[in-house]
Amino acid sequence: MTGPKSDLARLPKVELHLHLEGAAPPAFIRGLAAEKGVDLSAIFDADGGYRWADFAEFLRTYEAACTVLQSPRDFCRLVEAVLAASAADGVIYTEIFLAPDLCGGGSPAAWPEYLAAMIEGADSARRASGIETRFIPTAIRHFGPERALRAARLAAETAGAVVTGFGMGGDERDGHLAEFASAFELAAEAGLGLTVHAGEVCGPQSIRDALDHLSVSRIGHGVRAIEEPALVSRLAEEGIVLEVNPGSNVALGVYPDWRSHPIDRLRRAGVNVTVSTDDPPYFHTGMIHEYAELASAFGWTSVDFAAINRTALRAAFCDEKTRERLLARVG
Ligand code: ADE
Ligand code: ZN
Repeated sequence: MTGPKSDLARLPKVELHLHLEGAAPPAFIRGLAAEKGVDLSAIFDADGGYRWADFAEFLRTYEAACTVLQSPRDFCRLVEAVLAASAADGVIYTEIFLAPDLCGGGSPAAWPEYLAAMIEGADSARRASGIETRFIPTAIRHFGPERALRAARLAAETAGAVVTGFGMGGDERDGHLAEFASAFELAAEAGLGLTVHAGEVCGPQSIRDALDHLSVSRIGHGVRAIEEPALVSRLAEEGIVLEVNPGSNVALGVYPDWRSHPIDRLRRAGVNVTVSTDDPPYFHTGMIHEYAELASAFGWTSVDFAAINRTALRAAFCDEKTRERLLARVG
């Protein structure tokens, strides 16, 4: 690669919003399905990619793919594969969402062994490429508040050097965020950083609910704040960090194209925006691709990306020594 794209490829990158299961390469899932004799042909398209047409079907395909992730070893291999792909795109620090509900059927007894295997995967990736990883156990909103509380308990019990946050994804249209307040309080008491998906499928009210009920410092997506100027001001004043995933938003039809995406307008309004990929193979993206599209849509340069990576590191759920060490690398 030569030219501007190769400059973007070389930039050290910080990613705050990446779902482990959603980052599983289709070939990896197909391989596990073959090993286990599970027929998953319905979730793949003719090109071998994941098949989905809208947000609801995306979630269904995602959960179907996860049915072949059945053992701690499967998760260890998945972490290694996902981190190898991130490192190849120049990512030096990543925070990975992983759902305890999808590990060993969500059994609390299974969690420590699954987590240990994923940490082993992250350690092996660090040895291979130097990539630094933190894990954010994540509730799945449409599984309901009880299971979210159980996920928060597992996150709290294993909080430490690697498990540093708690989050929630899933179907934003399901239930009210206030019903999840106790899960987030429990996680906060354990010292975990908090983030929640809002303002992706639903509008500004979902973001206000997140700020009013969950005391999060970061919001997954949050881009639909742009529909309400007072909310944009609030995000800027309160220093809330948005984990923006432009390629995901365009693929899911939240915006028709890159130039219509509000990330540049939010940034100009003083909101702390960062750039991530969400579920790269589902949305045919990666960090280099995101940067290249943003450079082309908004004229962002390596100076803008370095600033965004500093914002991401300041918002990262990591220890101060790691933050300082990596801040020195992003320039
Ligand atoms: N889980 C994985 N990706 C997600 C997304 N984009 N929105 C909500 N939940 C998710
Ligand atoms: Zn997400």
